[in-house]
Amino acid sequence: MIVLGIETTCDETAAAVVERSVDGQGHILSNVVLSQIEQHAAFGGVVPEIAARAHVEVLDILIARAMREANRNFSNLDGVAAAAGPGLIGGLIVGLTTAKAIALVHEKPLIAVNHLEAHALTARLTNDTPFPYCLFLASGGHTQIVAVLGVGDYVRLGSTLDDAIGEAFDKTAKVLGLGYPGGPEVERCAARGDPTRFALPRPMVGRKDADFSLSGLKTALRLEAEKNAPLAERDVNDLCASFQQAVAAMVIDRLQAGLRLFEERFGPPMALVAAGGVAANQTIRGLLQNIATEVDTTLVLPPTELCTDNGAMIAWAGAERLAHGLIDTLESGPHARWPLDQVRKADTFPADASRA
Ligand code: KG4
Ligand code: ZN
Repeated sequence: MIVLGIETTCDETAAAVVERSVDGQGHILSNVVLSQIEQHAAFGGVVPEIAARAHVEVLDILIARAMREANRNFSNLDGVAAAAGPGLIGGLIVGLTTAKAIALVHEKPLIAVNHLEAHALTARLTNDTPFPYCLFLASGGHTQIVAVLGVGDYVRLGSTLDDAIGEAFDKTAKVLGLGYPGGPEVERCAARGDPTRFALPRPMVGRKDADFSLSGLKTALRLEAEKNAPLAERDVNDLCASFQQAVAAMVIDRLQAGLRLFEERFGPPMALVAAGGVAANQTIRGLLQNIATEVDTTLVLPPTELCTDNGAMIAWAGAERLAHGLIDTLESGPHARWPLDQVRKADTFPADASRA
């Protein structure tokens, strides 16, 4: 089964071709990503109108390149998948309309993929991870702990009440005069800083639920930055290190709570899986390994280029849905908001029955 995947939910334009063999194994035939970061950098964040226009300008070229690199033409495809949400509506319309045009002209099924579902299923593409598993998704737009029970079968165990973790890294970078995206910049400065210098709050720690909250931490950081202005390089490094340490402490506690909830409801998970740009952070990667070891489960960390937004994850989610007959009509529309637990579920799981 060969599927083309298109990703345009935020500031990456991406197209990929992925193959799913009958035994459920995935192979990436091509994976082309073009970041718009430079076009948004001057604004310190993603500007929706600029993003939508930039997707229009390059998407057809990227799709042609993905098809060429995969050495396939449209007639070889078994389906065309596009991320239909959640995301910035302008970009979603560009990607979904393009997918519909290809599907219509070449008479292929359309799969309107939930972007979060694609992050959730990536571990099956890269590591053939069996259900059920616990997903920690942390990106610029989302922070969730999800029980991934089957294709289309997701239960949200916790999520952020305000900002996403990546967003908090980006805002911290902005306050401290660092570049965009903030995550890598904050991590770089944190490596040279003293994490004990500033006592920043650790919101939500100790609670039974598995929710996150970043806004109090963000405000505390801004107040410390103001109090110590003008900031010397050492102050910036210490603020970054203290911030990263506070985030790490919260992530440990919230994931421990999430894994407890998982176990109570669904038994032991087959794996702890991380996805989203924040999973590129070395400190966070290290502590995920400790948490997985603690609950005696396997940690699955897909390579960074598949943790951040890409077309292969959309193509793969499309292939997994197609294998269960979960296709969509040309009437399907984009959804700016689309919670994971509202995704249409497969009735049966033939592919997994064969693997059990
Ligand atoms: O998944 P992603 O590429 O795009 C979406 O937001 O969907 O995630 C990007 C986010 C940004 O907020 C960025 O600052 C954060 O992930 N990020 C990091 C790191 N690399 C990227 N956060 C912390 N540490 C990093 N090394
Ligand atoms: Zn994403």
